[in-house]
Amino acid sequence: MKKDFFSIAIDGPAGAGKSTIAKKVAKELGIEYVDTGAMYRALTLKVLRNDIDPANKLEIIEILKNTDIDFNNNHIYLDGSLVDDEIRENRINQNVSYIASIKEVREIMVSIQQKLARKKSVIMDGRDISSVVLPNADYKFFITASVEERGTRRYRELVEKGEKDITLNVIMDEIRKRDEIDSTREVAPLKRTSDSYLLDTTDKSIDECVDFIVSIVRGRN
Ligand code: DC
Repeated sequence: MKKDFFSIAIDGPAGAGKSTIAKKVAKELGIEYVDTGAMYRALTLKVLRNDIDPANKLEIIEILKNTDIDFNNNHIYLDGSLVDDEIRENRINQNVSYIASIKEVREIMVSIQQKLARKKSVIMDGRDISSVVLPNADYKFFITASVEERGTRRYRELVEKGEKDITLNVIMDEIRKRDEIDSTREVAPLKRTSDSYLLDTTDKSIDECVDFIVSIVRGRN
């Protein structure tokens, strides 16, 4: 029996190009893009706005229960307000991994994400999409790039946004630290599942990466 919807799972480390590629694939295939990292970022923003210590698990779990995180036309809303830009600030980068490592936070986020994927065809990116959120996804990709390449991309992005007092070396160290937290945490660590296609974006253009995914999906659909 033919399914109504299909799903594409994208995982990989910070700065590998997942969201840029996923957004373009979504447009080309006419499906919804769900940025799960943005959801953890939105919660982190709320925690910082409320002066809650990012290490205070109980308060964070409590605040999440009274938080509304929603997507509309590729924009993310926190309790009804648009937070696209604020969730990309460096203070969020520096704290989000701690918050994303809380088991109860992940359970709530995963159930929201699974609900989204039941309603329409999606391309969803994150760290645990192939392994936990959509283990039965129709297509799975692990997108990565060297630390130097990922650091340089993040550094340029932040400079363009006017972020000051940053250096490439510090950004690369932060990326290594986030990789370490994301890949070694107890709950749903970042890892490539054996059924995922590997896509290393280090020396590839965005369009090449988009074509790689689209051709696999079209080839099998
Ligand atoms: O992809 P990103 O940089 O926006 O992700 C932000 C953080 O959230 C990152 O440190 C890992 C975490 N994350 C996660 O644990 N699980 C996901 N599905 C998505 C992101």
